[in-house]
Formats: sequence, structure tokens, C-alpha cells
Amino acid sequence: MKKAISPGALLSPVPAVLVSCGTMERPNLLTIAWAGTVCTRPPMVSISIRPERYSYPLIKESGEFVLNLPTTRIVRAVDLCGVKSGKDGDKFALSGLHPAPAAGVSAPAMEECPVSFSCKVRQIIPLGSHDLFLAEIVAIEAEEGLFDEKGRLALEKAGLFAYAHGEYFSLGDKIGSFGFSVRKKPLPKSPKKSAGRAPAPKPRRPRKNTSKKGSHRP
Ligand SMILES: Cc1cc2nc3c(=O)[nH]c(=O)nc-3n(C[C@H](O)[C@H](O)[C@H](O)COP(=O)(O)O)c2cc1C
Repeated sequence: MKKAISPGALLSPVPAVLVSCGTMERPNLLTIAWAGTVCTRPPMVSISIRPERYSYPLIKESGEFVLNLPTTRIVRAVDLCGVKSGKDGDKFALSGLHPAPAAGVSAPAMEECPVSFSCKVRQIIPLGSHDLFLAEIVAIEAEEGLFDEKGRLALEKAGLFAYAHGEYFSLGDKIGSFGFSVRKKPLPKSPKKSAGRAPAPKPRRPRKNTSKKGSHRP
């Protein structure tokens, strides 16, 4: 039996990302958990920001930010950037993180994050406590070491983490992949010689490598 609790922002798990903004000369960053993918084509993300944040006018006025995927290695810095404000001092010095030039925007990316999405704001929707920034991803940069020998982005090797109900969690084992529930079982490596009647199985069509094109289902 389930127990009723008051409606709230409980959706879990969600990413906790580092959003960098401002310029290389005057950068700032903040931690954002209310972030998500909202469109495949054009590729778009949303972030929700309280107007009282120091970063809010920086992003609103420049119309740009970079959404960076942090790793477990820097989770302490991620938390720190979510409890200290740029109003009170230089969060880069405080956290030991470094800004780096980003592709396609003047806002900086984060050197310590293996994947960075350069974003341009397309719409701002006031919702209540937070304003929703809808932004187009104009460039993505990913650490060279994350690509396998076939050129696939092996994001599972990045050490990403999730945020659920106020706590940070590293990701566990892979338990499936998109569409695996309906996919035929893979053929055995060395099929047994059949008695003769059964037709040879059709060769399976190779799956498209979507990560190369930067688009992901759904
Ligand atoms: C895990 C975590 C998630 C957060 N998510 C959001 C968020 O989605 N939106 C927001 O406005 N603030 C969020 N915050 C709070 C801001 O990151 C925090 O107020 C920060 O100090 C703002 O920095 P700034 O004043 O330099 O912009 C989050 C904080 C943490 C620790």
C-alpha cells in the first residue's frame, strides 16, 4: 500500500549538472538539478533557475550557458557550487574547478567535466519559484578518451552520477539498453550444426550509431 505525501519536486533520479555562465574573463557556475532534455531536433535542454541566483541575470542577459556533466570525482565541488553563491566570491577558486573556452558560445565550459553542451537560450518561462530556460544545444564537446575504437561515445565510462531526493548516487550496473525488451536474442557465436532442415537465420541489421550524430532516442 502507498502512503500519500504532499506534491513536490520529488522526481528521481535526475542529473545534477554544473552550469557555467558569464565569460572567460568573468565566469560563474552553479549546480542545477532541475535540468532535462526537452527536444531531439533541434536538440534542446531545459534548466530551471530561481531569479535570485547570481547566475540568473548572467544567463538571461547573455542568452548563453554551458551545461557540463560532472563525474563522481568532483561531486564535492558540485555540491559546493550549489551552496555557495558567486555573489560572495570566486567559486572557481573555492572549488578548484577551472573554466575553459567552449565551442559556439562566449560562456565558459568546465575543464573537469568530460562532456559540455554549449547552449543558447530560446525562451524563458516564469513558473513560480523558478523560471524555465529552454535552450538549444549549439555544440557538444566530449573528452577524447571517452570514444572507443569504433568512434562510439562510451558515456558509461565517464563516471557520471545521479541525484535523488537530496542525495548523490554513483551509477550502478548496466541492466539493459534502449529496445532490448523487444530485440531478438543475439545469435550464438558458433551455432551448432543443424540436422539439416531449419533455414539459416537472417543476418541481423547492424544498429545505427546514434551517438556519432548526437541524437538519442526517444
Ligand atoms: C544538488 C543541487 C541542485 C540544485 N539545483 C538547482 C536548480 O535546479 N535551480 C536553482 O535555481 N538552484 C539550484 N540549486 C541551488 C544553486 O546551485 C545555489 O543556490 C547556488 O549557490 C547558486 O549560485 P549563484 O548564486 O552563484 O548563481 C541546486 C543546488 C544543489 C546543491
